[in-house]
Amino acid sequence: MLTTNKFVRHQIIFTGLILVLSTVFSVVASAGTSGAQASEELKQRAQASKQVAQQFVKQLGGHLKKEMKANGPVQAIKVCKDIAPGIANQLSIENGWSVSRVSNKVRNPSSGIPDQWESEVLAEFEALAAKGEKYSSMKKAVVVDENGKSYFRFMKPIPVKPVCLSCHGGKEDVSVVVNAELEKQYPFDKANDYKVDELRGAISIKQPMDIPLKKKF
Ligand code: HEC
Repeated sequence: MLTTNKFVRHQIIFTGLILVLSTVFSVVASAGTSGAQASEELKQRAQASKQVAQQFVKQLGGHLKKEMKANGPVQAIKVCKDIAPGIANQLSIENGWSVSRVSNKVRNPSSGIPDQWESEVLAEFEALAAKGEKYSSMKKAVVVDENGKSYFRFMKPIPVKPVCLSCHGGKEDVSVVVNAELEKQYPFDKANDYKVDELRGAISIKQPMDIPLKKKF
C-alpha cells in the first residue's frame, strides 16, 4: 500500500513536471516565433520605407533638374512649392502612411516642422555626421507607441547638394531675383545659408502598425 502510494505520488510529480516543462517550452517557442515574425515585419517596413523615400527624392529631383535647366531657379521655386507637397501627398495616400519632408530650419513652416521624435533623429544624424559618418549611409527605423497606438517610424537624411544652393545657399549663391521671390513667398524662411554636404532635412515616414504593408514593393 505504502509503496503504491509513493509510486502514485512520484507519478503525479513527474506528470506535473512534464506539464510545467512543456508549457514553458511552448511559451518560449511561441515567443520565439512571434519575435521572429515581428522582426521580419519591421525589416519589410524599413525596406518599403527606404524605397518610398528614394522614389520621393528621385521624382522631385527629376522635376527640379528639368525646370532649373529649362527656365532657371525663379521658375523652379514652384516645383518645390507645388510638386514636392503633391508627391508627398500622393505617396502618403498610395501607402496609407504619412510621408513628409522635415527640417530643423524650415522654409515652409506649415509642412516642414519636425515633431519631438523627428527633432531628436535630425540631431542624431548631425551628431553622426560630426563623427565622420556619411548622410547617405544613415537611416532610422523604430516602432514607437504614441497615445496607445503603435507606429513604425522611419527617417532618411536629405543632404545639401550643389544644385540646392541657388535656393538654399548663402548670399553668394542665391541670386537677387530668387532671394526677392523667396522673401515674398516665404516670409518666415529659415532654410538659407546652407553649404554642400550639410543636413538640409529628412524624409520622414510614419506607418500605423495596424495598416498592413501593400503586397508589392
Ligand atoms: C528653385 C529653388 C529651390 C531649389 C533649387 C531647391 N529648393 Fe528646397 N525648397 C524650395 C522651396 C520654395 C521650398 C518650400 C516648399 C514648400 O512650400 O513646401 C523648399 C523646401 C525644401 C524642403 C522642405 C523643408 C522646408 O524647408 O520647408 C527640403 C527638405 C528641401 N527644400 C530640400 C532641398 C534640397 C535637398 C535641394 C537640392 C537637391 C533643394 N531643396 C533645392 C526651393 C528650392
